[in-house]
Amino acid sequence: MWSKIWLETRKVNPVLLSFNCHTVSDGALGSLKNKARKAITRQRPFCSAVLEHFDHQYSEELGDLWPSARAVLLDPQSWQYGVMLNRFSTVTDITQVVLSLGFSSLPPQTDVSALLSYAASSVSNSKYEEGQDTLLSPPYISKCPPEDYILQPDATSQDSLTEFILSLPHSSLQCYVHPHPLRFPSQAHRPGWLKQYYLLNAASLLPVLALQVRDGDKVLDLCSAPGGKAIAIMQSATPALLCCNEPDPHRRDWLSKTLESFLPHSLNNSVIVSAQDGRSFGHSKPGFYDKVLVDAPCSNDRSWLYCGSQQQGEQRLKDRARLPVLQAQLLRSALSAVRRGGVVVYSTCTLSSFENRAVVEAVLNDFPEAELEDLWEEIASPLSKYFMFSPHLARGQTHANPSLLPLSSRLGILVVPQPGKTWGPMFLSRIRRK
Ligand SMILES: C[S@@+](CC[C@H](N)C(=O)[O-])C[C@H]1O[C@@H](n2cnc3c(N)ncnc32)[C@H](O)[C@@H]1O
Repeated sequence: MWSKIWLETRKVNPVLLSFNCHTVSDGALGSLKNKARKAITRQRPFCSAVLEHFDHQYSEELGDLWPSARAVLLDPQSWQYGVMLNRFSTVTDITQVVLSLGFSSLPPQTDVSALLSYAASSVSNSKYEEGQDTLLSPPYISKCPPEDYILQPDATSQDSLTEFILSLPHSSLQCYVHPHPLRFPSQAHRPGWLKQYYLLNAASLLPVLALQVRDGDKVLDLCSAPGGKAIAIMQSATPALLCCNEPDPHRRDWLSKTLESFLPHSLNNSVIVSAQDGRSFGHSKPGFYDKVLVDAPCSNDRSWLYCGSQQQGEQRLKDRARLPVLQAQLLRSALSAVRRGGVVVYSTCTLSSFENRAVVEAVLNDFPEAELEDLWEEIASPLSKYFMFSPHLARGQTHANPSLLPLSSRLGILVVPQPGKTWGPMFLSRIRRK
C-alpha cells in the first residue's frame, strides 16, 4: 500500500511525494504533510541588528554579489534543500521518488568519481586495530582512540579489512537537488532503523569532497555535531577510522543519534565519538590522522539572521569578534593531528572574511609545514553550474579570472547564495602538511 502527501511550493505546481508504507506510517505522513506546509508558509522575523552588521561588512567584502545574496538569506521560502541518500539503508525506492519529482543528481555520478579520484581506489595499507573492548559496546560511545591504538600493515588483518569493506554497499556520495525550493519531509529518529536520506544544504558536501577520503584512511572530524559531514564522509568512502569529536554534551548526544540513525552497527568499531576540546586535540594525537576536517564553529549567517531577539543578535555580534582566534586554534590543532603528507580541510558557513581568509592566512604564516592547495580548479570550476563561487583572495588582491592568479592568492573558495542557486554560505580551504 502506498501513502501520498502533497508538498506545495510557491514556484512549482503542487508536487506529489509517495512513500512506501513500510518506511513511514500513515499517521507520520499526515504530520509530515502539516510540517511541510508550515515550513513553507511561516514567515520568520529577522534580527535587524544582525542584518545591519552584515550589510555594512558584506557590501564591502562581496560588492555586487551582496544584494542578491542578501535577498536569498532574507527569503527562507526560496531556500533549496539537498537530499543525500544513505547507502546503508536497504530501502531502495527513494531514488525513483526523487527522480520522478524532478530532482537531479548533484554532482552527476561521473563528476563525483572525478572529484573523489582516490576514494574509489583500493584499500590502503593501513589497518585500524581495535585494542579495547570499549569500542564494541553500544553504538558511538564517547571515546577517543586510546593511546595504544595502532595502525599498521598486517597481511591477515588486511585481508579481513578488505573483506569487510567489500561486504559494505558500494561507496558513492549520492545527493539530489531540485531547481526549486521543494522540501522533502525529514525522517524522525527511530532506534534500530536506518534513515534513507539526510536533508542538507548541498554546499555542505564540498568540504567532504575536498577532503578526498579513501577507503582505509584515518579521519578526524574535529567539530562534528550534528554529524552531517560525518555521514557524508561515510557515504563517500569506508575509512578505517572516523573519529567524530564534539565537546558540547548536548550536541554530542545529537551527533550520536545522527550516527545511530545512518550507520549500521557493523561500523561501531571504526566510527567513534570523542569529547575533547578541539584546540588541544592535536597535542594528544600528533601526526595520527590522514585527513582532518575542521568544520569550525562560526557566525552561521543563515541562522544568525533569524536569532530569537534583538538582544540575542547583539550578543552574538559581540561574540563574533572572538571567533577567529578560536578558529585559528582549531586549525593549528588539526595541522598537528594530521600526518606529514596528510590534508586538513577548513570550512565555515559564514561569508565573513575575518573567519575565512584571515584565519587561513594567519595559520599559514605561523605554520611553516602548511601548504595551501588549489580548490578553484578542482572544485569551483567543475561545479560552477550548481554553485555561485567567489574566490577568497589574499588581502588587496582582485582579479576577474581567479584561475590566472598565483595559488598563494587563492586562500579558499566561497559559495555565495544566489537566486536559483541558494546553496551556501560555505567557505572551504585545503591545507597539506608538508
Ligand atoms: C559548524 S558546527 C559543525 C557542523 C558539523 N560538522 C556538521 O556537518 O554537522 C561546529 C561545531 O563545533 C563545535 N565546537 C565549538 N567549540 C569547539 C571546540 N573548542 N572544539 C571542537 N568543537 C567545537 C560546536 O559545538 C559545533 O557543534
